[in-house]
Amino acid sequence: MSARVYAEIETAFDHADTAELAATLNDDRREELRRFWLGRASGELTTALSFEYMLADLQGLDAPSALTSLAEHAIAEEHRHVDYCLRFARLLGDEPVQADLGGTRPLVFEGATDADNRVLRTVFGSCFSETVAVQVLLASQREITLESVRRLNQQHVTEEVRHARLGWGLLAWSGLNERDRSMVAAFVPAMSRLTRALWLAPQRSGHLQLEALGYLSNPLVERALLQAFDEVILPGLERNGIRAA
Ligand SMILES: [Fe+2]
Ligand SMILES: [Fe+2]
Repeated sequence: MSARVYAEIETAFDHADTAELAATLNDDRREELRRFWLGRASGELTTALSFEYMLADLQGLDAPSALTSLAEHAIAEEHRHVDYCLRFARLLGDEPVQADLGGTRPLVFEGATDADNRVLRTVFGSCFSETVAVQVLLASQREITLESVRRLNQQHVTEEVRHARLGWGLLAWSGLNERDRSMVAAFVPAMSRLTRALWLAPQRSGHLQLEALGYLSNPLVERALLQAFDEVILPGLERNGIRAA
C-alpha cells in the first residue's frame, strides 16, 4: 500500500510544476520556503530520535509488542519524512542541505522519577505532539494545491495517525495503574505548555502562496493546535482516566 503511494508521490515529484517550483517564486518567498523545509527536516530527524527513546522506554515498561512495533515503524517513517523535506529544500536552492538534531538526550520532565519519565515521554511525544501533527497536516492539506506536496502530506497524515496511536494505545494499556494515571494528569499542564512552545517556536507568518505549497505558518498551526487540544487530546485523556487539574 505505502509502496504504491510513494510511487505516485515520485511521479508527481517529477512533474514540471514541482521540478520547476523555484522559478514560480520571488527570491524572498523561495528562501522562506527553503528554510521551512530545512527546519521541518530537522524537526522530523529530532522526532525520529525521540521515537528511539520511546522504543527503549516501552521495552523498559514491558509494554505489548503492538506498541513497540508502532515505535519501530515510526522511527523509519520519520527518517523518510526527513528525506522528503530535504528533497523539497533542494529544489529551492543550490546550497547544500542537511537536517540537524534539535537535541541528543531523552526529554526529562522535572519532578518525575525515571520510571515516570518512561511513561511521560511517550504520552507527550504521541498523545500530544503527534496528535497535534495530525491536525496541523490536515489543516495544511486543505490549503495545498501542488500535487506532489498534496500526495506527500496525505501520506504523512496517515503515518502521523499511527504515531499518535502509540500514545493512546499506551494509555489504554492495563499495565498503567491508577497511580500512573494520576501522575500523568499532574504533568498535563507541563506537556501542554511544551507542545505549544515547540509547535509555535518558528516565527512564520501566514502566506497564502506558501501555504498552498505545504508551508506551515503560525496562524495555521495555532488554529490546528487549539482544535487538537479541544477535540482530541483533552477528551482522549479524560476517556483514559486522566483528569487534568
Ligand atoms: Fe513526521
Ligand atoms: Fe510522526
